[in-house]
Amino acid sequence: MSSKHNKPDYSDIVEYESGGDRAHHHRGKSSEDLVDKIAIVANLGIRSGQIVLDAGCGNGYITKEFLKLVGAGGKVFALDVDEIAIAELRRESAGTSIEALVADISRETPLTESSFDLVYLATVFHGFSADQVRGFEREVCRILKPGGRLAIVEIVKRVTPFGPPLPMRYSPEELQQALNLLPLATVGVGEYFYLQLFENRVTGLTGSAPAASGLV
Ligand SMILES: C[S@@+](CC[C@H](N)C(=O)[O-])C[C@H]1O[C@@H](n2cnc3c(N)ncnc32)[C@H](O)[C@@H]1O
Repeated sequence: MSSKHNKPDYSDIVEYESGGDRAHHHRGKSSEDLVDKIAIVANLGIRSGQIVLDAGCGNGYITKEFLKLVGAGGKVFALDVDEIAIAELRRESAGTSIEALVADISRETPLTESSFDLVYLATVFHGFSADQVRGFEREVCRILKPGGRLAIVEIVKRVTPFGPPLPMRYSPEELQQALNLLPLATVGVGEYFYLQLFENRVTGLTGSAPAASGLV
């Protein structure tokens, strides 16, 4: 992972397609060695007994951290469009309170409405098309409890040694503008990443509202 100059070379960890459009798709990559996992977990405030979703979970490394925090009375769901990643996570987490499923978080999922305390989405959002952003917002608002939280980890919008093209990236302010949820804190989680917290309370800025579609 280190180059000959002993500087980190992250290209084998996070690879993104080149080109400036937001409709790209990436799979099988992990932010595990790039983000400050301790800072992320410390700022999520996950409590015993809570129901948490790791959306776009990849290898599920942080799903397993969440499991320790929710304890026996809680539950962690992990979803990804990548069937191979989900099959592997299911195998690794058999017998635990992790439920891994293949699903697209930018569309309606089989998850129960108003049932989640926290939805977590790390290094996925910048790849969404405009339609996916709206679909994601709709689904997150549907499955979060009123007052539940959305946490998004994204790469900073400046030149970094790796990562997607700058036009694809969101600054914290752009992320706050993109979603119709109440922005809470923004915190740095590693040299090149930040965590943006939102509360499931619509702001009226972008005009979408939670759907009440019942169980699917
Ligand atoms: C860069 S990886 C990040 C994985 C993990 N969140 C992490 O931080 O290591 C992006 C992941 O998001 C998944 N993904 C992309 N679009 C998705 C969508 N619409 N719904 C669910 N998962 C998606 C990809 O399959 C991939 O596993």
